[in-house]
Amino acid sequence: MSLLQITNLRTWIPTRDGIVKAVNAVDLEIEDNEKLGLIGETGCGKSILGMSITRLLQPSTKIAGEIVYKGKDLLRLNEEEMRKIRGKEIAMILQNPTTSLNPVLKVGDQIAEAIRLHQGLDKRTARKEAIEMLESVKIPLPEKRANEYPHEFSGGMKERVMIAMGLACDPSLIIADEPTKGLDITIKMQIVKLMKEVTKQRSMLFITHDLGVAAKICDNIAVMYAGELVEYAKTDEIFKKPMHPYTQGFLNSLPNMGLKPIRGLSPSLIDPPSGCRFHPRCDYAEERCKNRHPEMLIIGNGHYVRCFLYD
Ligand SMILES: Nc1ncnc2c1ncn2[C@@H]1O[C@H](COP(=O)(O)OP(=O)(O)OP(=O)(O)O)[C@@H](O)[C@H]1O
Ligand SMILES: [Mg+2]
Repeated sequence: MSLLQITNLRTWIPTRDGIVKAVNAVDLEIEDNEKLGLIGETGCGKSILGMSITRLLQPSTKIAGEIVYKGKDLLRLNEEEMRKIRGKEIAMILQNPTTSLNPVLKVGDQIAEAIRLHQGLDKRTARKEAIEMLESVKIPLPEKRANEYPHEFSGGMKERVMIAMGLACDPSLIIADEPTKGLDITIKMQIVKLMKEVTKQRSMLFITHDLGVAAKICDNIAVMYAGELVEYAKTDEIFKKPMHPYTQGFLNSLPNMGLKPIRGLSPSLIDPPSGCRFHPRCDYAEERCKNRHPEMLIIGNGHYVRCFLYD
C-alpha cells in the first residue's frame, strides 16, 4: 500500500463568478520515501491540490474523492483527527516565509512553540530542540539566531527556518509548495541540497514551476494542466521523452530550452474548454480533441499521458 493514495479528487471553490474547478478527477500516489514533483503553469491548481490533502482551505470549498493516508481516508476525519495528522504526520512548507512566520516572535520561540504543540514537550526541552533544528537546517550560530526576529533573517535563512518548522513534528510526508521561489540561484541550490538531506527518510510532494529544481529532487513528476493531470512519469523520462504537447511546450518555454512560450493563455477553471482542456492551444489538435475528453493512457515504463495522439 502507498503512503498516500489520492483517488478521483475534486476540489471546487465557489466564487461570485461561478465555481472554480481547481482540481478535477486527480489520481495520484506517493510511496514511502518517494519525492513526487507537481508541475504546471500558474493557476493550474497545484497549491489547491496540495492544500486539499491537509484540508487547509476555506470552509466553502467542496472536496470530494478519496485521500487515503496510511490506510485512513483524510476526507472522512473530523477536524480534531485532522489536526493531529497536520501536526504529526504531514507538514506543509509554504511558498512565502514572510507571511508564514510571525514577525513579532523570535525565531527560536516560534520553532519551540511548534515543537511543544506537536510533541508535548516542556518549554526548556522544546527550546533545546528548536536550537538543534536550526543547526540541522545549517543556520550558523543557532543559539544566537534563535533570539532574533524573522526580519533579521535573509530570504534563504527564512526558508531554512520554515523547513525547520516543517520538520518540528517529524512528519512522514512533506508538502512543499514552491519553497525556492524568489531565491537567487546560489541560495536556491543550497535549499535544494538541504531539502534533499532532510527528506532522505521521508516522502514529499514538491510543488514547483522550476523544473531544474524538480529534476534535482524528485523521483517522479506529475504534470498538471487546468486542474487535471496530463502526464506522469519518472523524472528523467519527463525530460528525455515528454509526450503530452503541453509538457513539451512547458519544457520549451524554459530559459535554457529556448524560452519559447506556449501560445494562448491558460483557460478559466470556472468554464474550462470542452474535450481536451489543452486543445485550444495545441498544435496537434484534431476534431475529436474538441469534443471528447481524453483518458489517461498507460504508455509503459510507468509513463502515463492524457492525449489522443497516443491512442
Ligand atoms: N481562495 C480562492 N478563491 C477562489 N479561487 C481560488 C482561490 N484560491 C485559488 N483559486 C483559483 O484556483 C485555481 C488554482 O489555483 P492554485 O493556487 O492552486 O494555482 P497554482 O497552480 O498553485 O498556481 P501558482 O503556480 O501561481 O502558485 C486558480 O484559478 C485560482 O485563481
Ligand atoms: Mg501555487
